[in-house]
Amino acid sequence: MISSKIKDNLSKSSFIRAMFEEGAKLRKQYGADKVFDFSIGNPDIEPPVIVKEALIKAVMDERPKLHGYMSNAGFADVRASIAARLSKDTGSTVSPENIVMTCGAGGALNVVLKTLLNPGDEVIVLSPYFVEYLFYIDNHGGKSVIVETDHTTFQPDPEKVYKAVNEKTKAIIINSPHNPTGVIYSRAVLEKMAEKLAAREKEFGASICVISDEPYSKIVYDGAQATPVFEIFKNSIIVDSFSKSLSLPGERIGYIAANPAIENIQLLMDGLIFANRTLGFVNAPALFQRILPESLGAVVEVEQYKRRRDMLYDNLIKFGYECIKPEGAC
Ligand SMILES: Cc1ncc(COP(=O)(O)O)c(C=O)c1O
Repeated sequence: MISSKIKDNLSKSSFIRAMFEEGAKLRKQYGADKVFDFSIGNPDIEPPVIVKEALIKAVMDERPKLHGYMSNAGFADVRASIAARLSKDTGSTVSPENIVMTCGAGGALNVVLKTLLNPGDEVIVLSPYFVEYLFYIDNHGGKSVIVETDHTTFQPDPEKVYKAVNEKTKAIIINSPHNPTGVIYSRAVLEKMAEKLAAREKEFGASICVISDEPYSKIVYDGAQATPVFEIFKNSIIVDSFSKSLSLPGERIGYIAANPAIENIQLLMDGLIFANRTLGFVNAPALFQRILPESLGAVVEVEQYKRRRDMLYDNLIKFGYECIKPEGAC
């Protein structure tokens, strides 16, 4: 009964299930305390206390219609608080009208891709990558074009990106701090990439959108910081979520922020809001939107992730492996 496309995708993603089953087998064999599951980024650190306090307050709020539909873009005050925080963090003036609340970063990526892609449009994906990107791109009739990053530093190669762009290229997905490598893309590399993309945009008379997938932006170590993309790429869209920064992956809450410098931005925002509605998300969960204004300044206990990063890295080096030291992500 199912479509051949879904059947095909099921076989392409069967390794995820195989990994899960192998983990269950090993746990049975060696004990649950001896087998660690790195297959998906499901945080085991509890959300910050302020999240629980804000949630209790939101649940006990007696005002009517708090669980109803709202504007498909999300609550105005929540979008305003996200815009204010982003303006502070990125140095670009982001307005609430440039924000759409979403069902996590996964929902946000689907909304952005649905809004941008015509059938057959190409999206550059930097390898290694979060495996769901390929399915998300396929969901909306796009074609993934994989571009390798440097094999030792995992930094993108702007020249390779330049060569991969053609008249069908609509977007490139970047992810920094990066899953799975933990690398933060350097400012110099991103600036070079911006130059190369701008040259191609001029050549083809088209816009190439940089979709910056940032769910790990707050999980950074040793004072590292990801470079804000808005100041580097004019045609850029941030997708972010609170799955990792507040340990809320099951609650499906995130957002899209479009660079205020994008030309004809109102049409883009209208498209994003329409896609959020018609993909069936309708709007991001009301309850978890309402905890955000109070929780935006909080972050999970990053120190705990850092201790694990140090233990894993130090021991791998001791055992003779060569690897980079992750600067972020969990
Ligand atoms: C790189 C990357 N992007 C997006 C997502 C999706 O996150 P969310 O739970 O916000 O949909 C994940 C989840 O692990 C991820 O690692």
